[in-house]
Amino acid sequence: MAYTVPKLTDYSAAALERASAELLAALEQDVRKLLFDDSKRTLSHDAEWKLRWEEWKNFRDKWIARKSGVLTQINDVWLKGAPKEGKRAAGQLVNELRKKVEEEVARSEGTLANWEADDQRASPGQSFASMDDALRALQSVDISLPGIRRPIGAEHPVIKTRNEIVGVFERLGYSVAEGPVVETDYYNFEALNFPPNHPARDTQDTLFIAGQQSKPQRERLLLRTHTSPVQIRTMEKMRPPIRIVIPGTVHRNDPPDASHSPMFHQIEGLAVDTNITFGDLKGTLDHAMKALFGSSVRTHFRPSFFPFTEPSAELYVTCFICGGSGKRGSDPCRPCKQTGWIEVLGCGMVDPNVFEFVKDNGYDPKNVSGFAFGMGVDRLALLKYGVDDIQLFFQGDVRFLQQFG
Ligand code: PHE
Repeated sequence: MAYTVPKLTDYSAAALERASAELLAALEQDVRKLLFDDSKRTLSHDAEWKLRWEEWKNFRDKWIARKSGVLTQINDVWLKGAPKEGKRAAGQLVNELRKKVEEEVARSEGTLANWEADDQRASPGQSFASMDDALRALQSVDISLPGIRRPIGAEHPVIKTRNEIVGVFERLGYSVAEGPVVETDYYNFEALNFPPNHPARDTQDTLFIAGQQSKPQRERLLLRTHTSPVQIRTMEKMRPPIRIVIPGTVHRNDPPDASHSPMFHQIEGLAVDTNITFGDLKGTLDHAMKALFGSSVRTHFRPSFFPFTEPSAELYVTCFICGGSGKRGSDPCRPCKQTGWIEVLGCGMVDPNVFEFVKDNGYDPKNVSGFAFGMGVDRLALLKYGVDDIQLFFQGDVRFLQQFG
């Protein structure tokens, strides 16, 4: 009897169980037919296996074809059709059934392939004394087969660098906060003191989500261009004092090249308390750079501009390639463009205008002050490991990644 996916009106545990049992019974029946139908054993070996594989493909398509397989149908009918209260249970069930069905499809394929390879003239079913033996054999393990080799992976250099940086700040008493990658204009720009239409927005090469024009500007969605929106999100939730680091991915409309990627990683830092000064910022970052790059590294702050910090600075460290001399032997040092200094991050004192947006949660700029910084993890990983192309981090080439194991 052909199985059709029933519509569900009742999402009670009992009803879901019944629907699931029916589906599994149909699945088992199909598997049995596939493996134990002896009618083809009179055919030649080739003809028999041609037919068997056709049957198996039909079976596979019936259950897992993307377009209209049973799995797709239960996803569409049971899960998408579920009322709000039933979504969770239906989701769980659909996932369990998917696993089971995929397992049976893979297992039957393996079984048939083994039988075919054995080149037995007898049909699969025939070679077993009974159905029970056959089913038991299906589930048993052939201990003479070689095991499955699972090579040990290595931590990705960007993630390793990220964890190291986060670790340095955790040891200073910072905690970790995170926020969404798809962000509103309000958090990514407005609350960070980028007024609408301010040219500083252009420096961020933003990727916008399509179809947002009908919304008020502050609600429009975009891919966050930096981790700074999580400063605001965190201050909305936690009263001062706070010390947080915020790791995460960010996106910008930059064509990929050796030093740019449309997706990259940042770590943001934010400390707010009474009487936080630029001296605290300098001391903290100087310590962090020495912890990351070695105690002989020196730091250097140069004035800069960010809408959400005032004053703002860029932090430079002595080039670890040339040690600050700007030369490699008699050649010019390329990574620091012969200056002996490498820019590693942006930072500054939190602009009072930013505190205004979270004033009601204890951040009255008359009472608190703070510093913030943001660094590009991928860039730091490039520098740290002497890699000359950021694309290598995202291509997944095992020959490259193995070197960090
Ligand atoms: N968000 C800035 C950027 O991505 C970096 C930054 C963070 C600067 C915090 C100052 C303070 O360019």
